[in-house]
Amino acid sequence: MKKGFVFDLDGVITDTAKFHYIAWKELAESIGITFDEVFNETLKGISRMDSLDRILAHGNQENKFTPLEKEALAEKKNDNYVKSLEDLSENDLLPGVHDFLLKAREHQIPCAIASASKNAPMILEKLGVISFFGHIVDPDTLKKGKPDPEIFIKAAESIDIKPEDAIGFEDAQAGIEGIKKAGMYAVGISATETLIGADIQVASMTELDIELLVSSK
Ligand code: BG6
Ligand code: MG
Repeated sequence: MKKGFVFDLDGVITDTAKFHYIAWKELAESIGITFDEVFNETLKGISRMDSLDRILAHGNQENKFTPLEKEALAEKKNDNYVKSLEDLSENDLLPGVHDFLLKAREHQIPCAIASASKNAPMILEKLGVISFFGHIVDPDTLKKGKPDPEIFIKAAESIDIKPEDAIGFEDAQAGIEGIKKAGMYAVGISATETLIGADIQVASMTELDIELLVSSK
């Protein structure tokens, strides 16, 4: 029996992945770099500064900016991103998420958030679901980002669950890899991408049966 749930945030709990895409695209275009949705997939689950580094490398500008200038670019992207979340509310929870969290609570299954986003607490607050989570891992405390398993191991430990007794939910390839390396059961959530290595994949959380899921090996 599985005993705890670890959730990614962007693209799993709410569709902020599209706002990250829009904000990065705008920032990239302001410095003469273009990228498409295929490249954007490689940014999912990746920290803010690592995402900027990948975008600069994509545009052959990896040596163009000083660390301070890069900080300013990342801040500009984040300011725009945060602005686009102004009206975020419980209506922006992805399908099936609220019911799933209620059922987890009914079954007394502890839940934690393993997101690379420094905006996670603010977003969960706006979505009205922060009280469902026993812990939100602070990405500033991590040595390595996804696909390293550290964030998932920390999340499971924070709710007193061994990784092998936990289920991780992810929409990004880097996240699925991290969950599997942590020794956890991986639920991939995506209607468009094939998530390699996921133990099961669904298009949305409405397809998940919590009783069946916790009995997974
Ligand atoms: C992840 C997103 O959840 O958080 C990435 O998938 C994002 O796209 C990363 O870059 C960091 O987010 P933030 O909010 O700290 O810039
Ligand atoms: Mg995600």
